[in-house]
Amino acid sequence: MKASPRIPATEPPAATKPAAATKPAAATKPAAAAPELAAPEPVTATGHDTTRAIVQHRYGTVPEQVLQLAQIARPVPAAGEVLVRVRAAGVDRGTWHLMAGQPYLMRLGFGLRGPRNRVPGLDVAGTVAAVGPEVTRFAVGDDVFGVARGSFAEYAVARAANLARKPAALSFTQAAALAVSGLTALQGLRDAGRLQPAEPGQPGQKVLVIGASGGVGSYAVQLAKVFGAEVTGVCRAAKTDLVRALGADHVIAYDNGDYLQAGGRQTHSHDRERYDLILDIAGNTPLSRLRRALTPYGTLVIAGGEGASWTGVGRQLRARALSPLIRPRLTTFVSRPRPADLETLRQLTATGQVTPAIDGTCPLSAAPGAIRRIHAGHVRGKQVITGF
Ligand SMILES: NC(=O)c1ccc[n+]([C@@H]2O[C@H](COP(=O)([O-])OP(=O)(O)OC[C@H]3O[C@@H](n4cnc5c(N)ncnc54)[C@H](OP(=O)(O)O)[C@@H]3O)[C@@H](O)[C@H]2O)c1
Repeated sequence: MKASPRIPATEPPAATKPAAATKPAAATKPAAAAPELAAPEPVTATGHDTTRAIVQHRYGTVPEQVLQLAQIARPVPAAGEVLVRVRAAGVDRGTWHLMAGQPYLMRLGFGLRGPRNRVPGLDVAGTVAAVGPEVTRFAVGDDVFGVARGSFAEYAVARAANLARKPAALSFTQAAALAVSGLTALQGLRDAGRLQPAEPGQPGQKVLVIGASGGVGSYAVQLAKVFGAEVTGVCRAAKTDLVRALGADHVIAYDNGDYLQAGGRQTHSHDRERYDLILDIAGNTPLSRLRRALTPYGTLVIAGGEGASWTGVGRQLRARALSPLIRPRLTTFVSRPRPADLETLRQLTATGQVTPAIDGTCPLSAAPGAIRRIHAGHVRGKQVITGF
């Protein structure tokens, strides 16, 4: 029998789950026609200690209007930080929100008039170029992946605690798609969702992943399968093939009608399917309807939601307020780059139990087009910037 993989838990206690079949990931291909920016301009720094980077001085919803390719001063790692020579940078939906400054509430934390951090990009994979004081976990030349501050650049600084060693089995492109979305999926299912591993020979919990074809969802489907769950994925009809390939047991297209009706699963229309856990990654379905799709002791975890420009967390706040008063648990969370969880993702990808789904790659100069594509819903899994 195959050894059981371990997914360490932070809360609740550590879980051991049976091995699950590995699903194929989408092949890497160049991202569809992302318009490129012209040569670096304006030049704001010169000399050897510079880096090519995408920079942004104000918020805006049109990527080509607010993002510029520039030569800027190379960041210097402070205590506990690492300078990474970036080989690949993942593009996640958060980069659109940070570019647009929407929902507006987030400007309180990220800069009122414009982003405090002028270089976008969080997901990173690359090689350690220098280490700051007090860094003992990494040395120059180590290949790493994780979360950086401004990864849309040749060089980016990251806290050492936000990095892990790149699995040898993963390319830089794959590793750059892992941290932000993988951590969110892991912490959403295991911690916020309290997903339990299936007992050997027993059916797993029923999990509904709303937004299964995107960055977070493509990991959530695979991770829920590692837990032994019976997984239903929701995405648009054009991407159901991807979600099936990721290992989902059932796939429902949200553009083909009401995905919370069991009719989408070819049972009687009055026989609504009920789930032990719903991970709502990017839907906008009202809480009342999601509650009715849960078992009495089920859990709804809201990871995100699109379309709100002011707070963006209306459903999350209502869920938290309502949860103590009712039975199905309603909750939300904000993912964090914990070293133990990065290590878990490293192991799961090194063993092939989880494989990043890569939509395509593009050069740094095409970053605005990549952000435009994600906002338009054209991406399957994750896009990665590889040409620096
Ligand atoms: N809580 C946290 O800590 C955390 C961390 C990271 C991200 N997030 C949030 O999570 C959300 C998703 O991020 P992501 O990177 O996975 O985005 P993404 O790659 O753009 O994926 C979005 C997913 O949502 C689906 N979707 C879009 N409209 C939908 C609808 N009306 N009903 C059902 N599904 C719908 C998309 O399906 P199709 O593409 O097939 O249309 C896709 O699967 C964002 O709001 C992001 O801000 C939260």
